[in-house]
Amino acid sequence: MSGEDRLAAAAAEAEAVVKKYLPPVEGFQKTVLDAMDYSVNAGGKRLRPLLMRESYRLFGGTGEEIEPFMAAMEMIHTSSLIHDDLPCMDNDTLRRGKPTAWVKYGYDMAVLAGDGLMIYAFETAAKALALGADPGRTGRCMGILAQKTGIYGMIGGQTVDVELTNQPIPREKLDFIYRLKTGALLEASLMIGAVMAGAEEREVKIMEEIASMVGLAFQIQDDILDVTGTEEQLGKPVLSDEKNNKTTYVTLEGLEKAREDVKEISARAVELLGSLKGKNEFLEELINMLTDRKK
Ligand code: IPE
Ligand code: IPE
Ligand code: MG
Ligand code: MG
Ligand code: MG
Repeated sequence: MSGEDRLAAAAAEAEAVVKKYLPPVEGFQKTVLDAMDYSVNAGGKRLRPLLMRESYRLFGGTGEEIEPFMAAMEMIHTSSLIHDDLPCMDNDTLRRGKPTAWVKYGYDMAVLAGDGLMIYAFETAAKALALGADPGRTGRCMGILAQKTGIYGMIGGQTVDVELTNQPIPREKLDFIYRLKTGALLEASLMIGAVMAGAEEREVKIMEEIASMVGLAFQIQDDILDVTGTEEQLGKPVLSDEKNNKTTYVTLEGLEKAREDVKEISARAVELLGSLKGKNEFLEELINMLTDRKK
């Protein structure tokens, strides 16, 4: 199988897991459930759950108990996108090839759908216990999920990102933003896969470091695609950063350097991955493939 085919198969596998854990759209609160369902089902690469499963496999995990965490991760990621698109944040109208949640359901429901997904993620993750997962590992992973989502993770990064809109940002602060707003959820993905499979503490730390680099490269590539991509490919508006007068890696370092750095940072991530005793060639291939992703 080619790398592309393997990626498509793994994404489809992750997609099925995410769908399995979505709540039914019913009851008096149906509107918010519909908005949650719409936003998750709109599509997306499913990269975070996919990476989580590959990290789990890398450390010898074979069970089903990783699945609630995979679904939870995609719910949290989707909630971050719903909020990121709001008029008070990036004010974007297209996501995953469809009108954004606030365009379709209104601001009120979009805020609630983001909140709903974020907290339902934890309800979902806790279901790992019913699948026989080790309680200690499950608790630890719920802690990781919360920490990497919250003020010391994605929300912290988004805070600085939004606050510094319309302002020049020094490189060191931009790195902080990227490490948190994008890196943190990738860190949680690789760490949770490792912890649930019973990796050693030292190995979990290495996975966190690898993910941090993958996250930085991923956000730089996102900035590149905002300038060089097409709306059709990306399923979201291009030139969103320019519209919002944002300092990005591209405005700060230029397109060429940004491209070089994506490669260089990803190569370092792959090298670190190679230092582990376990092997997962697909995970390595995936990190390499992300360096010239077009969507
Ligand atoms: C978009 O993430 C937001 C960023 C952190 C750059 P993805 O590019 O993974 O979006 P989907 O899930 O495929 O829609
Ligand atoms: C996304 O950064 C970070 C999130 C945590 C959602 P962007 O604002 O650049 O993401 P896109 O380009 O809208 O997907
Ligand atoms: Mg944003
Ligand atoms: Mg945005
Ligand atoms: Mg972007």
